[in-house]
Amino acid sequence: MTSELIDRLRADLTTANFSVSALTGLWGAPAEAALHRNQRVPALRALAALRDRLERTEPSATLAQLFVLGLPVSAADAGNAFPALGLDGAEQLGLVTREAADVRPLLDLRPYSFIDAHGAGSWWVASDLGELALGHALTETHVLGVGGASLTLTGLMIPTPVKSALDLGTGCGIQAMHAARHAERVVATDISERALELAALNAELNGIRNIEFRLGSLFEPVGGERFDHIISNPPFVITPRVAGVPSYEYRDGGLVGDAIVEAVVRGSAEHLSPGGIAQLLGNWEYRTDAGGQEVDAFERLRDWLGDPGDAAAQGAWIIEREVQLPTEYAETWIRDGGTLPDSAEFDRLYDAWLDDFAARGVRQVGFGYLLLRKPVGGDEPLRRLERLHGELGTNGSGLGTHLAECLAAHDWNARTDAVALARARFTVAPDVTEERHYWPGADDPTLMTLHQGGGFGRSVQLDTALAALVGACDGELAVSAIIAALAHLLDADEHALTEQLLPRVRELLGDGFLLPPGL
Ligand SMILES: C[S@@+](CC[C@H](N)C(=O)[O-])C[C@H]1O[C@@H](n2cnc3c(N)ncnc32)[C@H](O)[C@@H]1O
Repeated sequence: MTSELIDRLRADLTTANFSVSALTGLWGAPAEAALHRNQRVPALRALAALRDRLERTEPSATLAQLFVLGLPVSAADAGNAFPALGLDGAEQLGLVTREAADVRPLLDLRPYSFIDAHGAGSWWVASDLGELALGHALTETHVLGVGGASLTLTGLMIPTPVKSALDLGTGCGIQAMHAARHAERVVATDISERALELAALNAELNGIRNIEFRLGSLFEPVGGERFDHIISNPPFVITPRVAGVPSYEYRDGGLVGDAIVEAVVRGSAEHLSPGGIAQLLGNWEYRTDAGGQEVDAFERLRDWLGDPGDAAAQGAWIIEREVQLPTEYAETWIRDGGTLPDSAEFDRLYDAWLDDFAARGVRQVGFGYLLLRKPVGGDEPLRRLERLHGELGTNGSGLGTHLAECLAAHDWNARTDAVALARARFTVAPDVTEERHYWPGADDPTLMTLHQGGGFGRSVQLDTALAALVGACDGELAVSAIIAALAHLLDADEHALTEQLLPRVRELLGDGFLLPPGL
């Protein structure tokens, strides 16, 4: 019965052309931008103007007013917008409720479009009504829609085809639906029954049939199972564990400090198949220990990963994207929960957050991307922890492909000794440009920099020899031949130049500036 109702809902949304581009067409880009700032007045005015001009209400406008703006519409307009499903069907699916001559939304339902490594796509995503539609702070059991963090993680997702994937903490199911594009089968878990119901509705609404939904905390629902790809946007928001501080299921895993991130990192070691990759977002605390010693958060992360010499250790590439002071962190997350500044409640919660941070000596909180990889056989685990706080490059279909290419280059580097490296022929990645600065009138540049257009948008300073080497990497000449020619030109010792340049070549490979042969 529900499946049939969902089929009818899909038919109505399709007939109404309830799409991202249609919504932008309905209310225009400025109103759209205002909605991103949680302001719906411009969109509402645009819908009213359209209604006046056409002297009728378009079904797409009715759906937009109900499910995106979260406002009631007349029962007559709602009936027109659901010719196949009908108002009874919409009520049965829990989308709306009737109140006298009006119909009020019970869910947020909006179109979502994307471009990933497999191409462009568009879906509809249902979630709980947000703060704007509710007119008050979110409830503790709120099921989140597609937010900024969700999109960051979907963009990071490595699109390599795999047999199995796990989405831990699926919420509305957005990561699972993306994973279902490259994994034969996906298991999506959540501690919230309601989240699983919405995620299942979304999968079915979008015709995605290879996701299985399971209820339970962390890895509990997948005991003894291993996956090729684990994705998780875990509820990592650090929250004081004291009475009177709301604990939002969608962002707070109920543990102290960053322990939920630690639990997912440690747990993934037992749930990845050899060579399998886990990708998650997380926070990590920079603490001062009881002896007054400042502890770098990366030391704590290394501890979670295990000693690289240990058979159970995980490989990891961790990228810190930003850090916040405890004060900034507390303000961000108290406001996110719907408590407005300049209120007694805000101040009370602020105190609780600062007490909590003080109890562990937290100096700052890092946020970033974690990529974990289960080593194959006796391979040395990957260990790359870095701080990249600047702007990313331009990545039309996300960073996932770049991550996969860098991992492949890392593996190529690891299995290639100095002799084979010198014999290899490289090409320069297509997004790389070189910038040169000259003193006025000088023939030789004083500063040379390589810039990466995509990926992490890295920049690398070059000396004369490295600039010449990179410039000669056309896929035809072996590195050793380029270095021999350079030694001659620069009147330098060939052996010393080789020793100087090969480590730099390895770095450029690992960062995606140079491409290894055959990759
Ligand atoms: C930040 S939301 C992420 C939702 C979605 N995956 C996304 O990327 O937008 C975290 C999700 O984890 C769920 N969750 C909270 N505690 C959990 C736990 N102990 N085990 C599994 N899931 C949990 C929440 O219900 C919520 O749906």
